[in-house]
Amino acid sequence: MIRSVLLGTGSALPRDCVSNAELAKRVDTSDEWIRERTGITQRYIAGEGETTASLGTAAAKAALDDAGLSIADIDLIVLATATPDNTFPATATKVQHQLGGKGFPAFDVAAVCSGFLYALSTADAMLRAGMAKRAIVIGAETFSRILDWEDRATCVLFGDGAGAFVIEAQDGQDGGAGIIGSKLHAAGEHGEILYVDGGPSTTGEVGKLRMKGREVFRHAVTNLSSVLSEVLDDAGFQPADIDWVVPHQANLRILDATARKLGLPMEKVVVTVDRHANTSAASVPLAYDVAVKDGRIKKGDLVMLEAMGGGFTWGAALLRA
Ligand code: ACO
Repeated sequence: MIRSVLLGTGSALPRDCVSNAELAKRVDTSDEWIRERTGITQRYIAGEGETTASLGTAAAKAALDDAGLSIADIDLIVLATATPDNTFPATATKVQHQLGGKGFPAFDVAAVCSGFLYALSTADAMLRAGMAKRAIVIGAETFSRILDWEDRATCVLFGDGAGAFVIEAQDGQDGGAGIIGSKLHAAGEHGEILYVDGGPSTTGEVGKLRMKGREVFRHAVTNLSSVLSEVLDDAGFQPADIDWVVPHQANLRILDATARKLGLPMEKVVVTVDRHANTSAASVPLAYDVAVKDGRIKKGDLVMLEAMGGGFTWGAALLRA
């Protein structure tokens, strides 16, 4: 049985950190409102020269270093983003070039906040099919560039950043390290609840993020708890077997409600939304990297990744670290 085993993780954040109080000088909001409704206290915002590709490259480099590998060891890059540097070429190809890679496949996946789950599942399937041996899977975003800074209901929620995994196809065994299972879903009928009001084929403009926050909240809790149960059932595990949940960092109240629905204590949930805000496709690998580097996630731990985003799209993956 071939398993995709996680060899290293990395992350990158923009230079500028913007606190709620600083944001309140520009937007009609308050630290108290943002904190109470979302748990967010600050976010990182990309400045001049910082793009999705530059953040993705920095995260990928850190993941390669962590794995003790170089770009010469890699034969696939899958990058999840909803904020590519350009409509095309794919940001993954730019990252490949910036890392000094050549020839092997590199492409983007667009599934918004659940993009990293889609990218990881795709790379995992390609590794298990023998199409590649070692992949860098990246989630990278600069959502600050598609926010309507006049819309206080959305602009306070998001931040920029990137996270990356290096995974390798290895001969696996039950109970061994690697990705155990994953599930992906989409429900296109809800496209108008969370979307960007522009695009190359419609307005010819990039557009801005629009969201019906309450409806997103309701769907997120239902869909996430159901996909977590689905992955656990398929793999023959119980919620109590999980050492860590690394969720998409949308909102502390969504994390809390989802954990409660599954009977999981919040102590097992990795929370970084307070520091990073919602970084869309970057949030799961960013949070995972933080929890590895601070010593929480250890080799052998059973870890559940989960995310939901615009589309709607959602998914979960269970892995042994
Ligand atoms: N500062 C101060 N007041 C605000 C702000 C703000 N930033 N934003 C909205 N308000 C006001 C509104 O104008 C409204 O005022 P009113 O009662 O006088 O009309 C009041 O606060 C309540 O507004 P609601 O939008 O109803 O607030 P709600 O309690 O629903 O909270 C929130 C909004 C935090 C967005 C919530 O709906 C939520 O968490 N939704 C989930 C959305 C999410 O996380 N999306 C991320 C992308 S999707 C994903 O990643 C899963």
